[in-house]
Amino acid sequence: MKSASAVTHLFVCTAQKDEVGKEVAKAFKTELKKQGLKKLLTGNAPSKVRVQTCNCLDLCKHCKKGPGAAVAIYPDNVYYGDVKPKDAADIVREHLGDGRVVKRLLLD
Ligand code: FES
Repeated sequence: MKSASAVTHLFVCTAQKDEVGKEVAKAFKTELKKQGLKKLLTGNAPSKVRVQTCNCLDLCKHCKKGPGAAVAIYPDNVYYGDVKPKDAADIVREHLGDGRVVKRLLLD
C-alpha cells in the first residue's frame, strides 16, 4: 500500500484590517522557493511544505491587535505571533531549515 507523503502546513491568519497576513503568506512562498525548502527531509521521509491562509487562529492579541499576523505550523504545534513579511526568511531558515524555533516570535 502506498502511504501519503507528509505535509508541513504553515497557516497564516489574514483577518487583520490591513490584511498583512496576505503579504506574510506571499513572503513565506517566496522564501521557501528562494531557500529551496518547499520539500523538507524529516527523518527519511520527504515532506512538502504548504502555505495556507485562514481567517482566525484565535490568537488575535498577536495578530489583529498587533503589527503582524498569527502563524501556526503543523504538525509541529508551534505558534508565532506578530509575524511581519520580513520575518518569513527567519522562520523558513531557522524553523523549517534548521529545526529551531524562532524565539522572538514564539507564542506560549
Ligand atoms: S484575527 Fe488573526 S488570529 Fe484572530
